[in-house]
Amino acid sequence: MIRIGVLGATGYTAVELIKILLRHPEVEIAVLTSRQEGNPHVAAVHPQLAGRLDMRLENLEPSQVAARCDCVFSCLPHGASASAVRLLLDAGKRVVDFSADYRLKSADVYAEWYGQKHVDPERLAEAVYGLPELFGELIPAAQLIANPGCYPTSAILALTPFLKAEAIESTGIIVDAKSGVSGAGRTPKLMTHYPECNESVVAYNVGCHRHTPEIDQVLSTAAQRDVQVVFTPHLIPMDRGILATAYAQPRGHVTEESLLATLRAFYAGKPFVRVVDHLPATKDVSDSNFCDVTVRLVRGRVVVISCIDNLVKGASGAAVQNFNLMYGFPETMAF
Ligand SMILES: NC(=O)c1ccc[n+]([C@@H]2O[C@H](COP(=O)([O-])OP(=O)(O)OC[C@H]3O[C@@H](n4cnc5c(N)ncnc54)[C@H](OP(=O)(O)O)[C@@H]3O)[C@@H](O)[C@H]2O)c1
Repeated sequence: MIRIGVLGATGYTAVELIKILLRHPEVEIAVLTSRQEGNPHVAAVHPQLAGRLDMRLENLEPSQVAARCDCVFSCLPHGASASAVRLLLDAGKRVVDFSADYRLKSADVYAEWYGQKHVDPERLAEAVYGLPELFGELIPAAQLIANPGCYPTSAILALTPFLKAEAIESTGIIVDAKSGVSGAGRTPKLMTHYPECNESVVAYNVGCHRHTPEIDQVLSTAAQRDVQVVFTPHLIPMDRGILATAYAQPRGHVTEESLLATLRAFYAGKPFVRVVDHLPATKDVSDSNFCDVTVRLVRGRVVVISCIDNLVKGASGAAVQNFNLMYGFPETMAF
């Protein structure tokens, strides 16, 4: 049994992670951390876990977590995450980091977009970006997985097959995406306060959302040339789910059939990406680790539409998918 630690266990991604891990036959949840005082029972923090897990949350130092775990999932916010993760890595532990701290390869780009100096810049080169559909062969040997952001997962899975096949131009790509409110986490904020967001749709962080350099970085690697997308996120009044619509200029002659064939060829044998003929909906993938994706050719533009559950394929499901590959278990174990 692999002993698992979960940092930031009071959060939304953590509760989804715990639910998946409870179905995993090869793991034992050994540690759940929180800064809350009084060691609350996990069911007091997440009532949906009542009767399913009899554990208390603990306020522990990374060294104490390291002593009791083999592998740690960090569900902490950026900044706080790297501060803990680097000590766990120093102690020889394997880590799946949910935050953005190890996703970008450049400490300067991190500082520019996250407004703070990176506390562990030396490790940016060794972190493996945990999108198994693209980097699956690097994951088994990784000590540190940078679990992708939720918007980047939806955008990158939609666009990579076409960039790799040179079916779209690498310039002028637009990603218009919508997310449910859980994407902002459980910590209360004005924008996600019920009367602010209910019955309303709003674009936010236009031109400056922190997932932009992450999308650019991975798509540039896929295209082997510089890609800079125009990324516009929207908050929509639902609990969970992301729908991304990407627009691109075709490169050479394409048809809708050839574009669908490109998607199907790229995702053949990838258990969590379903290439569909219909227009996918967030409900189709809710509570699952699937990404549903399709493509249309509209007035000479390639329009790719993808859907994920931000808390599962966009976070905790991808993390367990990565964990399975790290430890040599079937990729689909626990799903
Ligand atoms: N929500 C999503 O859809 C999503 C998707 C992909 C990635 N992510 C990333 O995954 C991570 C967790 O997201 P989430 O949505 O689960 O967030 P969340 O619901 O806000 O939970 C984060 C937890 O971290 C703890 N925490 C907050 N600030 C901290 C600090 N300064 N030091 C130590 N602990 C702190 C809090 O627990 P205590 O107060 O109990 O200590 C909190 O419950 C973030 O890095 C986020 O960017 C989220």
